[in-house]
Amino acid sequence: MTQMTDAEIRARVDNLLAQMSAEEKAGQLTQYFTFSRAPDEVARVEDEVRAGRAGSLLFVSKAEEIDRLQRIAVEQSRLGIPLLFGYDVIHGLRTILPVPLAVAASWDPAVAEEGQAVAAAEARAIGLHWTFAPMVDITRDPRWGRMIEGAGEDPVLGSAMAAAQVRGFQGAFIGAPGRVIAGPKHFAGYGAAFGGRDYDEAEISDNELWNIYLPPFKAALDAGAGNVMSAYMGLNGVPATGNRWLLTDVLRETWGFEGFVVTDAGAAADLATHHYAADLGDAAVRALDAGVDMEMAPPFGEAAYRTLPQALAAGRITAAQLDTAVRRVLDAKLRMGLFEAPYVDLGAAAAMLAAPAHRAVARRAAERSAVLLHNAGGLLPLSRDTGSIAVIGPLADSARDTVGPWVFEQDDNETVTVLAGIRAAAGPATRVDYTPGVTMPARLHKSIFEDDVHAQTQRLVVDDDIEIANSVRLARAAEVAVLVLGEAHIMIGEHASRSSLDLPGRQQELLEAVLATGTPVVLLIMTGRPVDLKGAEPAAKMMIWYPGTRGGEAVANLLFGAAVPGGKLPYNWPRNIGQVPLPYAQLRSFRPDWAQERYWNEGNAPLYPFGYGLSYTTFSYAAPRLSADRIAPGKTLEVTVDVTNTGPVTGDEVVQLYIHQRYGSAARPVRELKGFQRVTLAPGETRAVRFPLGPGELSYWSAARRDRVQDETCIDVGVGGDSTAPFMTSFEVAG
Ligand code: GLC
Repeated sequence: MTQMTDAEIRARVDNLLAQMSAEEKAGQLTQYFTFSRAPDEVARVEDEVRAGRAGSLLFVSKAEEIDRLQRIAVEQSRLGIPLLFGYDVIHGLRTILPVPLAVAASWDPAVAEEGQAVAAAEARAIGLHWTFAPMVDITRDPRWGRMIEGAGEDPVLGSAMAAAQVRGFQGAFIGAPGRVIAGPKHFAGYGAAFGGRDYDEAEISDNELWNIYLPPFKAALDAGAGNVMSAYMGLNGVPATGNRWLLTDVLRETWGFEGFVVTDAGAAADLATHHYAADLGDAAVRALDAGVDMEMAPPFGEAAYRTLPQALAAGRITAAQLDTAVRRVLDAKLRMGLFEAPYVDLGAAAAMLAAPAHRAVARRAAERSAVLLHNAGGLLPLSRDTGSIAVIGPLADSARDTVGPWVFEQDDNETVTVLAGIRAAAGPATRVDYTPGVTMPARLHKSIFEDDVHAQTQRLVVDDDIEIANSVRLARAAEVAVLVLGEAHIMIGEHASRSSLDLPGRQQELLEAVLATGTPVVLLIMTGRPVDLKGAEPAAKMMIWYPGTRGGEAVANLLFGAAVPGGKLPYNWPRNIGQVPLPYAQLRSFRPDWAQERYWNEGNAPLYPFGYGLSYTTFSYAAPRLSADRIAPGKTLEVTVDVTNTGPVTGDEVVQLYIHQRYGSAARPVRELKGFQRVTLAPGETRAVRFPLGPGELSYWSAARRDRVQDETCIDVGVGGDSTAPFMTSFEVAG
């Protein structure tokens, strides 16, 4: 299918617009939830589609159903305009990749791009055109459950991951075969919710908006994203979805975005809920005025944009406003080729969903995402001929939890759990015993994903006293105990904030009971949050996140050394919840000498720093070399550092470049990540790793000058394997 030119697209949009009634135009701007488990709602939505009052559907996830609904739109509505099908393909559709935060921990944008290309291929094959991803919200608060969907606390790592995901989803252009429209979300500032409480408002200074929360969105748009999703929450007193400064001044006028904006679920109608808009009609007008093109209607609720024809008749909106929004939606449909090929190739869909190559991508991603936190005495890697291994924990054999939150189309029978992976990889003489140890507790407040529309697998309930005793017995009899502890998939993600970093339920008690046996313990942590282990110190600790469809295979490869861990933390790991927020990139303050004594009752350092992660080998860094010791503003110098593998096996190191600006128009953080490269080095190998430092890296939005600036200043430079890399050289920026 040849790509249409912009002129051809414009002409076809004009032709369609000229035929459309105000109601049909409002319909193109309305997206409905369509849950197959709610047949009455499907029937209601079908009527809207037939009447030309629906432009897009979401949550339809079976090829046959997508095809059926599309035929209603094309063959039974007056103008036959095809529907745009969107869905939350956040980290895979049927093949589930590790959660996005895990992929960020790989510090390898290629992992993100390759993984999202797999997700796009499966989504496009079943007839989906658009994903509500990547989620690019920065957060510094692990209480906020949606941290699992993002890339952690840093705008440079976040921007790299945002752009890579857009490339993976969309390919070279919107409409590329086997690709879908990417919709970075949630614009903007959602991750700064008060107290980490999901849905609470955010108050964010311009300094933090421009230097921390907005850059990943800009990176996603620079990578060509065709859509943006506006956030639910209040931003600085104005709901993000009614925030004209955000959706028009920044997105359109400053950044030149030409795609279409969709609201988050019900967020247009909810402008009235915020007590910002007077009622549903006012909410629709305020959303359109702010810059919202398409409304994701409230699930099972009343669409606000259905009132737009009345608003037009009453003169509250103009025909031009309406047409501008409809243009953007029709443009996306034309670019995706929906008018030429609206239907689904059901045979191709089935084949795509079972592609073995996709599973291999998921396994590699999980291997590259795990972060080795502690490995006393080199306990890991284990020998495949270890005599006996006790695998213990409520997450060790939970297929549903292994793939994490925001998955709906996986087949749990295809997921390799940690237990299954260990059993498959261990030697023939190795005895592998298992017990869940404890029951994962139920949530105090039910998750929105535990309702009948999202039907989730049931929790494994055991007698904790009996199983803890069983765990102790198995651990005593084993050479090594592998514990898989953390949070259930509904304890993190949307509507899953938490006021604690403790292990839920009696997992801590289980951990301490097994440690007390004296058998060496390998703790595999399955969550996204930096858990607080209350000082318990297993011999080895690895963050495996929610590792996806082939998670157990990847974890076994890491445990037995077939893969070498190389992941790094995408956030500072606090010692306890009381330290939060604890970003690594803080200002120097007037008492930097007391930076670690900000509380009188304990130190202020994180347990593990941003960018930290161990390997089965070791690396050394020579002092960084600069191509110049002075550059003019706007010029670029090069930082070169020689990195050597000083250990026994080939491994990956994420080489990280940090700077500190000593003075300028605003105070800048004690250190900021400005470059990173993951490199593979053989034992004894030395590699010269190079980074540019120019206006892109050295400019920032100045709170004093209220504009983007690059100061004449002195810049300290440090390069290392985490954010504690010492500053070893510096250079001047001077005219
Ligand atoms: C949800 C989320 C958003 C998601 C949308 C559709 O509530 O906030 O991330 O894409 O609704 O499921």
